[in-house]
Amino acid sequence: MKRVDDFRLRFGKREIVPIIIGGMGVDISSRELALEAARLGGIGHISDAMLPTVTDRLDKTKFVSVKQKQYKLNVKKTDKSIVKFDLAQVAESTRLHVSKTMEAKRGDGMIFVNCMEKLTMNAPRETLRVRLCGALDAGIDGITLSAGLHLGSFALMEDNPRFRDAKLGIIVSSLRALQLFMRKTARLNRLPDYIVVEGPLAGGHLGFGMDWAQYDLRTIVTEIQQHLLDEKIDIPVIPAGGIFTGSDAVSYLETGSAAVQVATRFTVAKECGIPEKIQQEYFKANEDDIEVNMISPTGYPMRMIKSSPAIGAGIRPNCEAFGYLLDANGHCDYIDAYNREVALHPDAKKISVKDKTCLCTHMRNYDCWTCGHYTYRLKDTSHRNADGTYQILTAEHIFHDYQFSTDNKIALPPSSA
Ligand SMILES: Cc1cc2nc3c(=O)[nH]c(=O)nc-3n(C[C@H](O)[C@H](O)[C@H](O)COP(=O)(O)O)c2cc1C
Repeated sequence: MKRVDDFRLRFGKREIVPIIIGGMGVDISSRELALEAARLGGIGHISDAMLPTVTDRLDKTKFVSVKQKQYKLNVKKTDKSIVKFDLAQVAESTRLHVSKTMEAKRGDGMIFVNCMEKLTMNAPRETLRVRLCGALDAGIDGITLSAGLHLGSFALMEDNPRFRDAKLGIIVSSLRALQLFMRKTARLNRLPDYIVVEGPLAGGHLGFGMDWAQYDLRTIVTEIQQHLLDEKIDIPVIPAGGIFTGSDAVSYLETGSAAVQVATRFTVAKECGIPEKIQQEYFKANEDDIEVNMISPTGYPMRMIKSSPAIGAGIRPNCEAFGYLLDANGHCDYIDAYNREVALHPDAKKISVKDKTCLCTHMRNYDCWTCGHYTYRLKDTSHRNADGTYQILTAEHIFHDYQFSTDNKIALPPSSA
């Protein structure tokens, strides 16, 4: 019976344990988590979502307060179009986060950055170029382009000296999206180095509509693998979404996948960015405590725990401080939803907005508990303490469980009791 450790992901002469911890935005996939994956011989992701606020917290920069001060007079206005990011500050926060991570890297694995392209930041092309090139300049091993796959992103990096040497990958949820990307980037003569195929059971934003339940990962992976074979294109395919045990992973590796990308199991690791109190909510969640909804202003469905404080909150849009989801015209769907509720309830002290959420503020404060479909199985991966809480795991324990387990078994950690 095979285990994940019988396989290797090959990048040229490099051999990597075929376990990738996926990017989890706003510092949920922390430096510490990514560093552990690399130390153990796999691939870890940091996320480039909202880096100015992340480095403020981690490295004591002052990017958010500087921006907030600059646009103070705009706070009460509904028009946010003048609220722009200072590109030099975006570049500096990327440089800081990436270089600090890469300096601390040990072991034979790699560290990639997950770049969520839906963070349009009121100037999509310019801010994305700075984020992508900033990460390359700071020495990242690779970049995974995610949510909102911008068909022009490779071109934004084409003049960077590392464009052909860093690993560049894409996340797609259909063969059609892959074909579109390949067509659009054909003139660059630069194929992606890997393709993550993310199915409907993943955490974060989904690349499907609200009919997500009608799709399944294995069918999409098979279709994409067959297409690459037919076209004689040799690119590693990496399934993601709902791969919960080592045996789940082996079933993909045995049928031609090069590695797997996983995330949900690591949300309850001590190295993960989610505060421990909230990790307990992930452990406790039952299947019917989890939903896929449309409250993200990105327009993509998102999976989350139903008791997330972000659901139904009615806070004032905080674009002067954050503003990561403002589109090229300075617009975000939450602003419209919020203004509508204010107009409907002019005398209310507190309002509730049900259809959209202020994702920037809520992700920043860990109030949007996005999670994978199998979050309800996390309770089976640890011990329950005498006080009813669950024992937080180490990333090493979870990584090794994926790497060495067989028979769909999940190894429990040594009990701390
Ligand atoms: C808490 C959480 C946050 C996530 N955030 C992001 C993100 O910011 N960008 C992204 O591309 N994928 C994100 N994902 C998806 C993961 O990177 C990964 O592909 C997927 O969740 C793997 O499936 P699994 O969670 O069932 O193992 C997130 C997943 C989780 C659980």
